[in-house]
Amino acid sequence: MKRVLSGIQPSGQLTLGNYIGAMKNFVKLQHDHHCFFMIVDLHAITVPQEPAALREQSESVAALFIAAGIDPAKASVFLQSHVPAHAELGWIMTTLVYMGELERMTQFKDKSAGKESVGAGLFTYPALMAADILLYNADLVPVGDDQKQHLEITRDLAHRFNQRYGEQFTVPEPYIPQVGARIMSLDDASKKMSKSNPNPGSYIALLDEPDVIRKKISRAVTDSGREIKFDPASKPEVSNLMSIYAHCANMSVAEIEAKYEGQGYGPFKKDLAEAVVATLEPLQQRYKDIRASGELKTILRQGAEQAAEIANKTVRDAKEKMGFVLP
Ligand code: TYM
Repeated sequence: MKRVLSGIQPSGQLTLGNYIGAMKNFVKLQHDHHCFFMIVDLHAITVPQEPAALREQSESVAALFIAAGIDPAKASVFLQSHVPAHAELGWIMTTLVYMGELERMTQFKDKSAGKESVGAGLFTYPALMAADILLYNADLVPVGDDQKQHLEITRDLAHRFNQRYGEQFTVPEPYIPQVGARIMSLDDASKKMSKSNPNPGSYIALLDEPDVIRKKISRAVTDSGREIKFDPASKPEVSNLMSIYAHCANMSVAEIEAKYEGQGYGPFKKDLAEAVVATLEPLQQRYKDIRASGELKTILRQGAEQAAEIANKTVRDAKEKMGFVLP
């Protein structure tokens, strides 16, 4: 069975972008792949986190994984910090990656832009991400479009290690949705929808109340004109809303175009809001149930045990190849 690994940072509210770009594929892949899904708390601290918020967000993301449909009986769900092998192989990857490679990362450029002091962890972030993936010899990594560059570095590091020390790591492939790989902001379709945007009107959080969702969609910026047509180059705003619609209503963009031919933005936006609400309401109910049930700790402990079994063996094998004296 092919292996799948992915992770989401517990920093701020998860958005519909995270759901469409990544989580939906987590749920889909778990049925016929050996899956590992992590809350990447070690990555979250590459920017300052308030301790109470980090704790709350980590549990919240874990609960959202389950609420979105990940079945802990099928996939291992765990916190990255519960499996110390991530930090250990992360260090090894830091020694393999070149400064020049890290300097080219657009995520680093975006996150460090205009900041007076930037933590070194933000710079070496891709080395830890490579370790996350390589520890499990993942074949597929379900992510949104913005993680493609990090996947490229991971592939390069796998090759580099294998060439230098002997065959050890599987070279992973990104698994990216055809529509919705990059969900854009509701207030500006040139920026990706992001949980770190200070304007909450720019994103739909997975835990937004139905009325908040309706309001945000009714206020979403639309292109001039009134045609519902999928054309990201000339109609970026409407095309973005259509991608969201396609995922929430399980329709193709062609079907959406046909449905709203000659109708303008009004009815389209109304139906879109209801489709998003219908997708998120049951998820939110399951989220509440899971948080109230107290099951989360057990799920995360079991997930970490399953993950550590594989990860510890990989680190041991890699260290042996590199010439470390094993205990
Ligand atoms: P993060 O936490 O920023 O985002 C989690 C996942 O959501 C996707 N995503 C989006 N997809 C479509 N449209 C959007 N607007 C949007 N915003 C976010 C991201 O592409 C990602 O798949 N570095 C990673 C976390 C990570 C990881 C890993 C991922 C750490 N280790 C190992 C895969 C494998 C990140 O910051 O994702």
